[in-house]
Amino acid sequence: MSDDGDTNRYIRIRGDQAELGMFVHAVHCSWIHNPFWRRSFLLISPQDQALIHESVPQITIDLAKGRGLKVMAMADSRDHDDPAPPPEPPAAAAPEPVVAIRPRRRKPPTELERAAATAERAIAAVTRLFAEARLGRAIRTADLLPMVEEIAHATSHNGAALIAVTRLKDKDQYTYIHSVAVGTLMMGLARHLGMDDDDVRVAGLAGMLHDIGKMQVPAEIVDKPGRLTGEELAQIRLHPGLGHRMLLDLEDLDPRILDVCLHHHEKMDGTGYPDGLKGKEISRFARLAAVCDVYDAVTSIRSYKRAWSPHEALAQMLEWEGHFDPAMLRAFIACLGIQPFGALVRLHSNRLGIVVREGESPTTPIVRSFFDVPDQQTLPVEDVATSGDPIIRAERGEYWFGEGWPTLQAEIMAQVAVPEAPRHHLPRARM
Ligand SMILES: [Fe+2]
Repeated sequence: MSDDGDTNRYIRIRGDQAELGMFVHAVHCSWIHNPFWRRSFLLISPQDQALIHESVPQITIDLAKGRGLKVMAMADSRDHDDPAPPPEPPAAAAPEPVVAIRPRRRKPPTELERAAATAERAIAAVTRLFAEARLGRAIRTADLLPMVEEIAHATSHNGAALIAVTRLKDKDQYTYIHSVAVGTLMMGLARHLGMDDDDVRVAGLAGMLHDIGKMQVPAEIVDKPGRLTGEELAQIRLHPGLGHRMLLDLEDLDPRILDVCLHHHEKMDGTGYPDGLKGKEISRFARLAAVCDVYDAVTSIRSYKRAWSPHEALAQMLEWEGHFDPAMLRAFIACLGIQPFGALVRLHSNRLGIVVREGESPTTPIVRSFFDVPDQQTLPVEDVATSGDPIIRAERGEYWFGEGWPTLQAEIMAQVAVPEAPRHHLPRARM
């Protein structure tokens, strides 16, 4: 039976009512003050009990998995023998619960909701770790490993969940959210490239730590709205080296994580920093990081710029010749399942069209159709909602239309198209 199907099972009590043997189902305080990594747990440690008494206003306990308040245990004849409750404390007036939760049936969370909740916990973990780094204290990357595992699991079967995680945008928490988003995107791309589980984990941790050096650059420069002066830019550009030095002090850190930290701003044409590496001098992990880092940065809201849409971002990144490894960028586009603006695609109805604007979601843009595949002839241009006539694959413009493709593409994109009429017939069968 699912947790949600049970009734009279959860009660909310004050934090100072927490007793050993209770099963903590939820801790009610802002995530930044939540002293626990785990979402729910059996309260067996006196230290944890003291922590809840001191710093948590309220908790929800699960009566099916642990003991209740004394007064409730007497009223409730159900056995709570898993686990055996600890000895009862000396008789004292049992306090009343603060709020009894009225049992309600809730739908189980969707995969997207679970992924978003995982990302929020990961952001909290990164925030704490970076705060330690800012204070110059020793950092414990081991704290991030459970988050990497959780994100890997949450995003393993569902590309949409991967995107959902990276759409949690809040300009005030930019560096932390960006770190988790880059880690998540890197795990997705590493998996898409066929890397094994261990490499996928390394990619996730590398992404979460890649910008840790920013903790040693003054926050007013890192968060400055608007253009940076030459001096400020020079300071920002120190962050890969600063981060690398911080991570060098840690034992047992995979060398690829250090490399990503130092080289995620290198460009294929040698114009990046700090070392001006070129082409394959840049490691595979650092090339992977560069694509994920820039994509997340340009799709984020900052105080000085709007967020680019995923389509816009990918279309622009394709134009920045010399910046990214082209094969890595193509793999990233395929991994996200998002076609950039200007991309030629085939629709389920066997028409070719060009992605021209946002649709209902990042994976269902509006496509301007103009060519019928079975008849091998052009059609009047029509804007098609791909939520109703899905994209079945990306196509190569040069293959279909030869060297004249860029001109044809520009002409079609400039035309005003008739919006697609409501479809009263089923799409034609695929060839
Ligand atoms: Fe960076």
